[in-house]
Amino acid sequence: MKKSSFSSKVGLIMAAAGGAVGLGNIWKFPYIAGENGGGAFLLVYLLCVLLFGMPLLITEFMIGKRSGKSTYGAFRALSGTTHWQWMSWLCVFTAMVIMGFYFVVTGWCFNYLIEALTNVFHGMDASALAEHFRVVNGNLPRMIGFGVLPVLLTAAVLWFDVNKGIERLSKILMPLLLLMMILMAGRVLMLDGSNIGMQFFFQFDYTKITPHVVMEAMGQCFFSLSIGLGALITYGAYMPKGQNVLAASVQVIVLDTLVAIMAGVIIFPAVFAFGVSPEQGPQLVFVVLPAVLEQMSFAWLSSVLFFGLLCIAALTSTISLMEVAVAFVCEATAASRHPLNRRKSVCLVAALAVVLMILCIVFPAIFDLSDQLTAGFTMPLTALCISIFVGWVLPKSGAGSVLRNTTGLKRRVGQVYLFFLRWIVPLIILMVFLNGLGL
Ligand code: PHE
Repeated sequence: MKKSSFSSKVGLIMAAAGGAVGLGNIWKFPYIAGENGGGAFLLVYLLCVLLFGMPLLITEFMIGKRSGKSTYGAFRALSGTTHWQWMSWLCVFTAMVIMGFYFVVTGWCFNYLIEALTNVFHGMDASALAEHFRVVNGNLPRMIGFGVLPVLLTAAVLWFDVNKGIERLSKILMPLLLLMMILMAGRVLMLDGSNIGMQFFFQFDYTKITPHVVMEAMGQCFFSLSIGLGALITYGAYMPKGQNVLAASVQVIVLDTLVAIMAGVIIFPAVFAFGVSPEQGPQLVFVVLPAVLEQMSFAWLSSVLFFGLLCIAALTSTISLMEVAVAFVCEATAASRHPLNRRKSVCLVAALAVVLMILCIVFPAIFDLSDQLTAGFTMPLTALCISIFVGWVLPKSGAGSVLRNTTGLKRRVGQVYLFFLRWIVPLIILMVFLNGLGL
């Protein structure tokens, strides 16, 4: 991605939102919400987004915009020392681990797109679809093939540096995806029994809020907003000069949250109307959505369109994930005796991603562990360090004035932001960590 890549402010927001909106919203959010009490989870999730998602998103954008660098150079440029360099290693580690399982799920989406094209789901009900998922997922060579495909596509985008095309694509496709989801929600809400699903998703039953639910919601917030691994630092570095960081952050958050809620509005009414369990884990959307699409008018076209858009939404996220690692490798090796240029870095990162992806397919325990390790540990840890770094370590008035200088933000807003960054964000993350340790 070159500095000139983002021709407009809207382009950057759409690209950053394209990176944030992905399988986290449409695949992960519904199944985690389903496992954690529906409405209770939604409430805690929304609180997480406001209390620490927002300040952290602003902070990452700001670090990137201010330093003009991605993770490797950014912490060094801002602190003037190398003491904080290790955070960039944590970021790239997280990006690689996420890539491992993310490419597996993207592979599932491609598999479903091909099957939608060949009308495989015609006449299948939810239980037939559950069996279908089991069979497809058990076919290792097929899964590996479908996992390699998005790795190659992502690598190709970075190799040919065609981010400008992606920017344009996001501008059209993201609203299209949202529109498609609204149509699907409209159809689902006409099904008998759909109101039970709406109650499940929107009824905030406080008794269901447990420490575990809070932990899951926090992890989901990091994952869905792409915070805690420097992905947004990288976008921040490409921000046009006059871009308002606060406005960009709000827009990314609103879009991301909207898509997640829409996914819930489609999945849960359908789950109850079809009589399947909301707690079936990662396969949930692959069991429910094809059945929903079968009910639409123009079923074949709807399926193809939806899975096509889902694949593209996943790809815009894998592009931003891979970019974190590629930019890191380029910057980190630049001053060494063996500097790796962009294309060599792309090859290296893609090869590693394929290995991790295959491990996740062959050993399902690694798939689960990768997800838990990143959303439950390394992303919150990185976020904690970032909040301490920007809130406390940078010169006292640092973050506030950096924010104001970089964004032209009003003093008041800067103060509120700084308060959240210094106190609320670290306290919440520490509390959740301590709870995780059983303390
Ligand atoms: N936020 C993306 C999603 O919801 C996943 C992602 C995480 C992308 C971290 C980049 C960095 O699918």
